[in-house]
Amino acid sequence: MTTILHLDASPRTDRSISRRLSRRFVDEWRTHRSTDRIIHRDLAIDPPPHVTQAWIAACFTPNEKRDAAMRRDLSWSDAAISELEAADLIVLGTPMYNYGMPSALKAWFDQVIRVGRTFSFDLARGDWPLEPMMSGKRLVVLSSRGEFGFEPGGPRARFNQLDPHIATCGRYLGVAPNAIHTIAVEYQEFGDDRHARSVERAESEAVRMAGVLVAEAAPYAVAGRASA
Ligand SMILES: Cc1cc2nc3c(=O)[nH]c(=O)nc-3n(C[C@H](O)[C@H](O)[C@H](O)COP(=O)(O)O)c2cc1C
Repeated sequence: MTTILHLDASPRTDRSISRRLSRRFVDEWRTHRSTDRIIHRDLAIDPPPHVTQAWIAACFTPNEKRDAAMRRDLSWSDAAISELEAADLIVLGTPMYNYGMPSALKAWFDQVIRVGRTFSFDLARGDWPLEPMMSGKRLVVLSSRGEFGFEPGGPRARFNQLDPHIATCGRYLGVAPNAIHTIAVEYQEFGDDRHARSVERAESEAVRMAGVLVAEAAPYAVAGRASA
């Protein structure tokens, strides 16, 4: 069985393009593999808490020394990390906000990238003390932007703080740079033919990508059945 962690970060619900794309991907996945586990976490409807001083102190306190208040402070993070640990594939629907990620998504990264849980820290490693503790996951990013040209070499490539930030943080989710697939709708603010074509292209690319990853996931399902 494959476990998918499906995240949505747009505060728009029925009008959101990134939500429609992420749902399109997951629906297509389900048509091929209806028994896979899908965990849906809605970061906009149920936003992650912000990091506080108490939260940081709790993170750096060894588990056996944490008091009840510290455990409470870490409970949202614990639950979100458990979902992440279970996931083979992360499907992320997100808007571009101010050329980066919306704050709810940033808050999720802050809650799940945690010392001793998702990365280890050891000064014996010299200038690179952080090491991810997970590996082998895949990430599909389905995003929407009002402007256009954010792809490498595009006229707004240097403004794109969304995709590079996700890729950098993805390392600590257990996702290697070559395991990230990005599909984006552009031109939303123009609402013209270019936007319509962009939506059409992104939707068919989401369906195609689901098929590609389903084909890669199939051997795991067979192995899982054999060992059951
Ligand atoms: C607060 C805010 C900030 C935005 N910043 C950008 C931006 O920096 N660049 C851009 O191309 N579009 C920007 N947009 C447009 C959104 O990316 C666009 O509306 C997108 O479709 C939103 O995703 P959704 O349809 O899933 O809600 C912004 C929209 C909002 C509401």
